[in-house]
Amino acid sequence: MIKKSHRSQLKKWVQIASLLIAIVMASASLSAKGKSQMIDKRLFGRLEDGHEVYQYTLKNASGMHVSIINFGAIVTNIFVKDRNGKFADVVLGYDSLQSYVNDKSYFGAIVGRYGNRIGKGKFTLDGHTYQLSINDGENQLHGGINGFNKKLWAAEPIESDSSPALRLTYVSPDGEEGYPGTATLVVTYTLTPDNALRIDYEGQTDKPTIFNPTHHSYFNLSGSFTNTILHHQLMIEADSTTPVDSELITTGSIVGVAGTPMDFRTPTEIGSRIMDRYQQLIFGRGYDHNWVLRDYSGKVRKAAEVYEPGSGRVLTVFTDQPGIQFYSGNFLDGSAKGKGGVAYQYRTGLCLEAQHYPDSPNKPNFPSVVLRPGETYHQTTIYQFSTK
Ligand code: GLA
Repeated sequence: MIKKSHRSQLKKWVQIASLLIAIVMASASLSAKGKSQMIDKRLFGRLEDGHEVYQYTLKNASGMHVSIINFGAIVTNIFVKDRNGKFADVVLGYDSLQSYVNDKSYFGAIVGRYGNRIGKGKFTLDGHTYQLSINDGENQLHGGINGFNKKLWAAEPIESDSSPALRLTYVSPDGEEGYPGTATLVVTYTLTPDNALRIDYEGQTDKPTIFNPTHHSYFNLSGSFTNTILHHQLMIEADSTTPVDSELITTGSIVGVAGTPMDFRTPTEIGSRIMDRYQQLIFGRGYDHNWVLRDYSGKVRKAAEVYEPGSGRVLTVFTDQPGIQFYSGNFLDGSAKGKGGVAYQYRTGLCLEAQHYPDSPNKPNFPSVVLRPGETYHQTTIYQFSTK
């Protein structure tokens, strides 16, 4: 028989234990609620073959939010504050899946297997010459006719109170667009508490291949896509560029920026020299070149900064890549009807594409883009937003 005093003690312990369990369960459900608010998932559309495409929206505690679809691993929206705390979308894009399927501008996409151009779409690796698909004059641009930007990716949301993320995976079959080897690319988009969109890439292959994916968001920090980017101020941490020929294929030379309109070593308005009769600007129809970033060692460092004086928004780009392509939206011509029906006119968006130098497979003096079985390709690029 249990004594009365023991019984009341036992009762007390049971009460304490159940209270503790209740507290644990309540806090678990609270944090689950907090987490589920950080990533939102909705059906974005259906592809012709019936596959569903979802849009995932990552949110952080300060209200910044980024939407991504698992078609093309495309960033469709980035909402950030201006200096008065007003949110606006700062990337060009569309409202419908069909527009992304038809898109020719690579809005917001992950570009691959090889970002930018490969001369004649040809390269030689280990004594084999590979002919890639051709989709830009006589050359290959951004991975070919159906690059990674036109593929359905597997998506896996990673819930977190502070840094929600979306992991996207695409397996590119051996021979796709002419590239050797089955290549797997995992891209993780993370929204950080300090208002950065961080992109981590990991790639692998089962045969020697070339690998150089990049991200192709078009930024316009002004808060209105009817404004051009010509009043944005740009700084690039680079002392030289890789000049191109009339087909925008790098010549193999590396030329200093000093005394030319390519000099963005200090913040400079993009429009101030863009119409100069400078050969590289004529070839590019504006800026469409690769800058050779300082201090390439595999570590992430600051690469560029953009400031839009009207809104006070600042975009700072960090990357571990050797180069960055600054493209001033010279092929935009009003034919793309974007979000809210706005036609994207000439130079209404700018891209800062972290990458290896264009046509590296044919330029032995450029850092190598060869990926071999057993190796892992890594890239980290960070787009951080602030105001001043
Ligand atoms: C890159 C290229 C440009 C153009 C755009 C997409 O920035 O360098 O020449 O192809 O992509 O239109």
